[in-house]
Amino acid sequence: MRNSIIHFWVAEQTYEIREIVEIWNKIKTFWKDMIWENIGDPVNKWEKVPDWLKILVANRLQKDDTYAYSPSKWVLETRQYLAKINWKIWEEDIIFFNWLWEAINKVYWYLALSARVLWPNPAYPTHSSAEATNSWTFHLTYNLDPDNWWNPNLEEIENKVRYNPNISAILVINPDNPTWAVFSRKTLEWIIDIAKRYDLFVIFDEIYEKLTFEEKDRVLLRDIIWDVPWIAMKWLSKEAPWPGARCGRIEIYNQDKDDQFRKYIKSVYFSKMLEVCSTTLPQKVLPDIYESIDFQLSLKERIEKYRKRADIIEEIMWDLDLIKFVKPKWAFYFTIIFNLDKFGKNSTLKIENDELKWYIEWISENVRFDKKFCYYLMASRWICVVPLSWFNSAYNWFRMTLLENDLDKFRYIVETIKSAIIEFSKT
Ligand SMILES: Cc1ncc(COP(=O)(O)O)c(C=O)c1O
Repeated sequence: MRNSIIHFWVAEQTYEIREIVEIWNKIKTFWKDMIWENIGDPVNKWEKVPDWLKILVANRLQKDDTYAYSPSKWVLETRQYLAKINWKIWEEDIIFFNWLWEAINKVYWYLALSARVLWPNPAYPTHSSAEATNSWTFHLTYNLDPDNWWNPNLEEIENKVRYNPNISAILVINPDNPTWAVFSRKTLEWIIDIAKRYDLFVIFDEIYEKLTFEEKDRVLLRDIIWDVPWIAMKWLSKEAPWPGARCGRIEIYNQDKDDQFRKYIKSVYFSKMLEVCSTTLPQKVLPDIYESIDFQLSLKERIEKYRKRADIIEEIMWDLDLIKFVKPKWAFYFTIIFNLDKFGKNSTLKIENDELKWYIEWISENVRFDKKFCYYLMASRWICVVPLSWFNSAYNWFRMTLLENDLDKFRYIVETIKSAIIEFSKT
């Protein structure tokens, strides 16, 4: 090529949640029945899609306007509905995207190159990659501390904001993925206070907002923020559950408080107009879902189901001193941090087949400890979890889900992972 055409960030781009499946594609000739613990998709883990949801979707499908383009921002009745149930926004403050990924990307892409977003470490990679790609440089992060229930150190946030004038926004994912953190009202108020004092805006990814085990933990930004400009990202892929709908929305607050923020939001909206609109069906169904009593009931039922799984993990894992055990506070994920000083350099798991053993040894050379454990776990126990050091994280750890529908199978998965961790420590 005459010019260098590769974005510098491209070498860093990876999405382990899906990439680990590539390893599976190579080893599947040896065994077929992998237990997939890599994706936060309840439907893929055999959760039955409720009949009430199917009926609501089917009813909408009978209407001709469901097959038409929708307005660029979103179907008007739906925006009006959302503005009615949330008095802090107007219908003009909502933009609908084709899944939250699109929203996340556009929010970062339409920022000025030098305007940086400070985001949590570890972070959900869709955010971090989009932000870093847009800025052509490395991440700027604040740490979440597993020894303090994954809460951030607010002094660290403030210092980073104070000494880096390019920081223009703070990202908070609450409840958080990949940790299971649910931030306290006090922590959130502090972050907003920093944003206010340093004239920043905030981005809140609240995709899991309705899924905390305890209702008291459900602190929405809109309940505590008044005059700071901010963006909330939401969708019902996890709460319905309907991840395959591939939709997502942003709600924009306090556009009138800052002229620059208003213009920036206009550019995000403009990018949506260029694309015409997002997919129509999920937009149309959303008010039907939110108004349905069945939705409320099924949410409660599902949360209890996940809570039970968190209890089982605690029962099985709490006394294992090879890991850091922090019990999840909300549905979906559980992360395990290795106490590295308890493991040798040459840790392995027994793999029966020699060819497979050779392959796993080969791909495990020069990879981080958690990745190596995950490869061995796949080939030795046939369970696929996601290594998390790649979530821009200093820890060696991995993530599994609380989604397995069959309780006995769930117990089996946790016990098997525990036995693998113990075996890994002994080699
Ligand atoms: C924190 C967070 N934000 C956004 C998303 C994107 O959700 P979806 O792919 O359903 O749009 C996810 C998906 O797992 C997530 O964990």
